[in-house]
Amino acid sequence: MSARKKVTIVGGGQTGGMMAYRLAEKNICDIVIKDVAEFAQHHGKALDITQGASFAGFEGSLTAADDWEPTANSDVVVITSGAPRKPGMSREDLLKGNAEVVGEYAAANAARHSPNAVIIVFANPMDVMCHVAMKASGFPRERVIGQGGMLDSERFRTFLAMELGISQRDVHAFVLGGHTDTTMVPVTSLAHAGGIPIANLIPAGRLDAIVKRTMTGGAELVELYKTGSAFFAPAVATIAMVEAILEDEKRLMPCAVQLNGEYGIKGTFCGTIVKLGSGGAEQVYEVPVSAEEKAKIVAAAKGTEELVKIVS
Ligand code: LAC
Repeated sequence: MSARKKVTIVGGGQTGGMMAYRLAEKNICDIVIKDVAEFAQHHGKALDITQGASFAGFEGSLTAADDWEPTANSDVVVITSGAPRKPGMSREDLLKGNAEVVGEYAAANAARHSPNAVIIVFANPMDVMCHVAMKASGFPRERVIGQGGMLDSERFRTFLAMELGISQRDVHAFVLGGHTDTTMVPVTSLAHAGGIPIANLIPAGRLDAIVKRTMTGGAELVELYKTGSAFFAPAVATIAMVEAILEDEKRLMPCAVQLNGEYGIKGTFCGTIVKLGSGGAEQVYEVPVSAEEKAKIVAAAKGTEELVKIVS
């Protein structure tokens, strides 16, 4: 048995394949892509990525699995399974179909075979799917974490950097709240570039337009791709979280976790700043956002609660 850490990616679609490739390049774990034989291309993807291993610098094992046994004792399980949205659809339109796939298929089996894993939920509508995954896995708050804020923050930083003509790396900005077109909260009050508040650099009207473009950032990609949703930036964002957990980096990242009183919200998954390390979500922070932003975060959680009722 390999002494390497192990990551299972459930769902070998566009995003799952890209995640496997990104993770292989990091050379920090063995990788299993789990899917069901009839639909997926996971065997092709695993072999294809493996054949590039010597150039990509990957020395671990990358396999495709139709059954759960090969996923056993994973340190991290990323749930990407479920349908992506098509043009004109919202993430919420995926609710019922994806709840079954994420709950009974992915989270329950992942928990059975990898009882100590950290689950990262990627499937949409992500905040609701976190509730579904937590219930099906029986895992504690620290080990069920939603990816949404990482990607939305990447998009926010991209648009701010494009506007300013500066490196994305020097833009510090994040998105909290929900991972939907109407409930995400790009936090302008704390955004800065090189220590300069963003409001000093970008006029209010332009900043509003950037906030709107960030909130509909996923839909913009769905329209451009025509047959599915984004997968390059989503994969990069998710693997940054996986790396923080595997390498115990103690990174502060915007992720969805079950809140326990932060922003006055209790028991609902919502995006906030979280410390990621080998224990998963090791600490959950309430960020001192403006009163208006806080009200939007509370509204995001309310929206999630309404959708959770439909699937529970
Ligand atoms: C997006 C999907 C993956 O935002 O949620 O592109």
